[in-house]
Amino acid sequence: MEQLFEKVFKELGYDVTPKVVKSNKDADFQCDECFKLAKDYHKAPVMIAGEVVDKLKAEPEFDNYFKEVSVAGPGFINIIVSDKYINDQLRKLMGKEILGATKEDKTIVIDYGGPNVAKPLHVGHLRSAVIGQAINNILKFKGNNTISDVHLGDIGTQMGQVIYGILIDFPDTKPEDIEIDLDYLNVTYPKMSALCKEDEKVKAKCLQITKELQDGDPTYRILWQKIVDLSVSDIKRIYDYLDVHFDLWYGESHAYKQFDEMMPYLEKQGILIEDDGAKIIDVKEEGDKIEIPPCLIQKSDGAYLYATSDLGTIWQRVKDFKPDEIIYVVDGRQSMHFVQVFRAANKGKIYNGVLQHHGFGTVNGEDNKPFKTRSGGALKLEDLIKQVKEVFISLREENKNMDEEDIDKIVNAIIKFADLQNNLERNYIFDIKKFSGVAGKTGPYILYTYLRINKIISESSGKLSNAIYSETDRALRLKMLEVSSVIDQASKERRPHYLADYLYDLSVTANNFYQNNKVSGLDGIQKDDFMTILNFNNYIIETLLELLGIKIPKAM
Ligand code: ARG
Repeated sequence: MEQLFEKVFKELGYDVTPKVVKSNKDADFQCDECFKLAKDYHKAPVMIAGEVVDKLKAEPEFDNYFKEVSVAGPGFINIIVSDKYINDQLRKLMGKEILGATKEDKTIVIDYGGPNVAKPLHVGHLRSAVIGQAINNILKFKGNNTISDVHLGDIGTQMGQVIYGILIDFPDTKPEDIEIDLDYLNVTYPKMSALCKEDEKVKAKCLQITKELQDGDPTYRILWQKIVDLSVSDIKRIYDYLDVHFDLWYGESHAYKQFDEMMPYLEKQGILIEDDGAKIIDVKEEGDKIEIPPCLIQKSDGAYLYATSDLGTIWQRVKDFKPDEIIYVVDGRQSMHFVQVFRAANKGKIYNGVLQHHGFGTVNGEDNKPFKTRSGGALKLEDLIKQVKEVFISLREENKNMDEEDIDKIVNAIIKFADLQNNLERNYIFDIKKFSGVAGKTGPYILYTYLRINKIISESSGKLSNAIYSETDRALRLKMLEVSSVIDQASKERRPHYLADYLYDLSVTANNFYQNNKVSGLDGIQKDDFMTILNFNNYIIETLLELLGIKIPKAM
């Protein structure tokens, strides 16, 4: 359609590559180019629009595209497409791979998850996992080579704290013979962390152990490995439940292995500044609207910092994968950290590809503040999942007898759709009751729509006649045509909520179709047409749900 418009504009002497966009009112699509042209060509937009519409109407191809084209208001061109056009496009779309989305083949490292070893996952880890995995799925679907890395926090002070706790509890056992389990870990970390807040000496000791661990102390290494193994297996269990997966289970400790190479390289770049014995990189830039503090690389006692581990990780990723892009799906409150790290990586000539932080908002409680338990701590992710499951089961008597696997799929759908329907930058209130309902913009609503249609569809030829049978039929066909550009937009901006929004709109449109058209008891061409449309509708729903990490239960 845009090509035909371009031809007409050019033949009329207007040099423009016109866009045709979806219309919300009175038309299917519209073209707003005439306003921009008005200035250059010193003509009223409405006049240009009139010329274009007249010329379009004289085109021999007009009927292939349009039912009606008209000038609206001060110079819009309103477009109502022909039934033939809709069906032609739909036939084309049904024959295309990856739902007509454009193909890409970049190498992209995605950093999401970011849990800290020795601490259980909490609500704050939900978004990184769910959004990160969805972005990963979308980029892969488009043909990119993605490498996902969980980037564990595995060498911070919590490790020194737990190691010191073990040394206190097992004073006489050789480190290799010490046996600890998850329960022990779950008690020891909070105990030691509280102790550090009360007792300066303990705190100092834990910091010292952390530093020696980072320097490779063999005894601490042995204990460290035990803690990592236990904790990571527990973290994996929850990620598995959420169908969140990583190619790499690297952590900050891997970054430390790069420092022998990276630090001399940075020295050579001449950007490390001595500051009171510490080393920093000045990352201020001209035109900064806010003060960007320097990036801290090494403390005066030789200890490295959070930013250093992210730089080391970039160093390793560049070496291992030569990526086109490295993207981070991490809490938006860390945005300053990433500005500093990205600038340091640039200034230090560590990486010249694309570095992008997709900072997400917080999951909030009813008070619209970041979710907390009654006692004020962070709610464990596992407990949140349990709560959602309980609420879902309590909704209806029948839910109690549902297949366990199906329940888990629905729990996943509730949580993920609730999260992914928000632009990731926004905070949102976690309202389990609302998210679990079958009515409204929820995961269960989409699943329910899919299953209801699935029940009535039968095999079809997969061909379409040129007929359209009603307004709601037409609306559904038009809606399906949007899918390619929705996927492209979600991928380009790394915003899965475009898919969630579209899935909801498509479901509403499909339900409208279902309610307003006699679907059963038909035969012949109309039946085949309807079955083809509904089959394709469900294929789209299935595909997009998969991209959002949502699996479909057998029944609901
Ligand atoms: N472990 C970090 C934290 O708890 C998050 C890591 C995010 N990823 C990164 N590459 N910095 O704050």
